[in-house]
Amino acid sequence: MRTPLVIGNWKMHGTIVEARALAGAIRDGLKRPRGVQVVVCPPFTALALVSEVLSGSPIQLGAQTCHHEPAGAHTGEVSIPMLAEIGCRWTLVGHSERRKEIGESDELINLKLRALLTQGFTPVLCVGETAEERRQGLTFTTVEGQLRAGLAGLGGDQIAKTVLAYEPIWAIGTGVNASPAQAAEVQGYLRGLLSELASKEIAQTVRILYGGSVKAENAEVLLAEPEVDGALVGGASLNAQSFIGIVRKAARIGTATKE
Ligand code: 13P
Repeated sequence: MRTPLVIGNWKMHGTIVEARALAGAIRDGLKRPRGVQVVVCPPFTALALVSEVLSGSPIQLGAQTCHHEPAGAHTGEVSIPMLAEIGCRWTLVGHSERRKEIGESDELINLKLRALLTQGFTPVLCVGETAEERRQGLTFTTVEGQLRAGLAGLGGDQIAKTVLAYEPIWAIGTGVNASPAQAAEVQGYLRGLLSELASKEIAQTVRILYGGSVKAENAEVLLAEPEVDGALVGGASLNAQSFIGIVRKAARIGTATKE
């Protein structure tokens, strides 16, 4: 059984004042989440503060990206040891917004992923196709390429420590989520690839999240899919009540339906 995982990706939202209020409300609303793991990924400037707000709480801290080298002349970047120092143990890798806006390549994403695993972090590798790729029947080709390149050179034991997130680009921030069947189809395909890259046993333990317009209202049907092990939430994670609503649904489904 894979413990459901819900991650809030705050993206470029949250001044210190807003981050304190949001993290505090999530902490207070989720004192003892059972049957679910919860991570929030604030922007870099709010990480240290949110770490303090969440100290002693079961909610864990993640970053939205990182540099793969431990230190050096890399203006504007943040290293994994810097993130570790403030209590961060998770990092998103290869989010589509970074692939598109910053031009992150599969090779760079692979470097980051390896560095994170070496330093005891849990990387969350994001993959997903554009609307055009889906129209052209290239969904599987796209996500397969991203997965193979992202995990290149990793052993089965390292793949076992990785989390995947399927985020179709056409569903991000659009209000149009993938249907449960669409998510399950791609995520089942990804799990099949993990069997090949690691082993069938390891593939069964790796969590594959769905992301793209997840809200408290649609979380239940998406999370009910056996292939959907949790959610990577953008917009709805900026509102404590919506985010808590999604976490509660994941917890309920995790402890009931899929056992
Ligand atoms: P939305 O939930 O706002 O669609 O964003 C999804 C996402 O990109 C999370 O990483």
